[in-house]
Amino acid sequence: MFQEIQQAVETTLRAFCQAEGIPFVAPQWKPIPFAGEWGVSTSFFQMAAEEARAGRGTGKPVPVRAQELAERMRNQLRGLEGVNRVESVKGYLNIYFETGAYARRVVETVLAQGADFGRGAPKGERVMVEYAQPNTHHSFHIGHYRNTILGEVLARLLEFAGYETIRASYPGDIGLGVITVLWMYDKFYKGQEPQEVHARGQWLLKLYVEATALLEKKENETPEETARREQYEAERREMYRRWDAGDPYVRDLWLRTREWSLEELRDILRRMDVKIDVWFFESEVDEPAKAIVEELVQRGIADDERPQGGAVIVRIDEKLGLKQEKYRTNVILRSDGTTLYLTKDLALAKIKFEKYGVDRSIYVVDVRQSLHLQQTFAILRLMGFPQAEKCYHLGYGFVSLPEGAMSARRGRVVLFMDVLEEAVRRVLAVESEKSPEMNEAERRRVAEQIGLGALAYSMLAVDNNRDIVFDMDAALSFEGHTGPYIQNAHVRASSILKKSKVEGQKSDLGLSTFDYELTRHEIELIEQLSRFPQAVEQAANEYRPLVMAAYAYDLANAFHSFYHAVPVIQAGQENVRAARLALVAAAKQVLANALRLLSIEAPEVM
Ligand code: ARG
Repeated sequence: MFQEIQQAVETTLRAFCQAEGIPFVAPQWKPIPFAGEWGVSTSFFQMAAEEARAGRGTGKPVPVRAQELAERMRNQLRGLEGVNRVESVKGYLNIYFETGAYARRVVETVLAQGADFGRGAPKGERVMVEYAQPNTHHSFHIGHYRNTILGEVLARLLEFAGYETIRASYPGDIGLGVITVLWMYDKFYKGQEPQEVHARGQWLLKLYVEATALLEKKENETPEETARREQYEAERREMYRRWDAGDPYVRDLWLRTREWSLEELRDILRRMDVKIDVWFFESEVDEPAKAIVEELVQRGIADDERPQGGAVIVRIDEKLGLKQEKYRTNVILRSDGTTLYLTKDLALAKIKFEKYGVDRSIYVVDVRQSLHLQQTFAILRLMGFPQAEKCYHLGYGFVSLPEGAMSARRGRVVLFMDVLEEAVRRVLAVESEKSPEMNEAERRRVAEQIGLGALAYSMLAVDNNRDIVFDMDAALSFEGHTGPYIQNAHVRASSILKKSKVEGQKSDLGLSTFDYELTRHEIELIEQLSRFPQAVEQAANEYRPLVMAAYAYDLANAFHSFYHAVPVIQAGQENVRAARLALVAAAKQVLANALRLLSIEAPEVM
């Protein structure tokens, strides 16, 4: 936070090192938690160790020398503005700030940088986040929603942390499931079309469920039933063959029905404020996948057993020289000449690297596909892609409702749109009691913001690998770890500021010197505000939206405590009131910034 002071110390340190012939090591500043005053600290152990390694040492043990260096640096640092005292302890240099000056600096920085407060410097790297990639000819269920919100928040975090970010989707638009729907449609539903956009995916899923029942072998089938089932099975196979051969009738049917799903998907993404930059389709990487197979055979990475009537395979462990089984052996081309999911992922990754110039590639995919993606990344390493080291699988667990698990095959899915509608309905019910002065349109808009916020936060506040049993009442609560609790902090901050304007009070920064005895609530709030940039950095570096979700809760919590305990508009002295108003404005800003990263709206009223 105190960049200039840290800079000044660094400059002094550099000069000191040069004069003494000591290898310079840039200080790694760590904040010292508040205990009467704020400060930052850095250690001299690494410098002492480097000095010894370079043969320039004094022969003293590293800890002793580190302390000596810290002490000599301390003696050089005098008269730094805003600094209370400097101490050297056990090889560390601790710099303590004047509390009022520090508080003021934090608030000033937030207000000056506004929506950019917390933004990282450009990283000079391009990252692609792939998410929102449900299979087509299927409905959009709550699990897809978890995927989409995780991916979107990760993309926002990376972008804000300074990466050039590309959002990509990769729907599975072909495979036996899709063909099954086409067969069913063509045989029993030809010419029909669901009218409503949101009914489409669900309708296609219904066809799939019916088809599955028809194609399933039952106990005690009569000979006629068996014959009929086998007939259906043959028709479905024929449908697949015609698709493969590029039969215009089947291709047209496929594209038309696929468009129904995509329309629905695009509509949901719009509601979620998700803008995908690049669409890849599984069907489009089939040809490139075949080319990859030949490339891998030629380069000796894959073993071609086609001449013996077999498949093309990659013995990953063997090629990587691993003694223990880890990635196993993978077929990349079946003996009938068809590619696999893995083969397509190799082709897709190559396109991401080569056509889109991606340095880092993130996959937000069901945790059950973990082995598959580790195999993909391992083969990409064998292919010599340096980016393979920067491929990352962000896995996520299952979502269910208290009433039970989902099963697409049985048609038992929890549709995202149904859950959202229900959430909005419940918010509206309490809202009309709470704020009768809002008009209908505004009430509806705010209810949607709260409903969406509640859903998003309930997905983001859980470790991504863990399963979620979604509890609607808990998610909508205004207390505890919820979206509405954080949104409510923003609303309260807004209303204080609005009220102060009505009363003609100023949050003039010239007055807000924080030169009075700060309460512990103010200190805690200021501390949380100053932590935001680190939280952004950490969440992005670790690819963990949860870090930002937890931060937003801590900040909201600090604000609510402050709100309950500390008078702002009612503060007796004018300088105190001005300082607190500025603090409220800063808190509102950082709450908004954090919520934006979490893809949650920050309402002014609720
Ligand atoms: N469409 C796939 C599914 O629903 C997810 C795609 C994951 N991405 C990938 N590059 N394999 O299971």
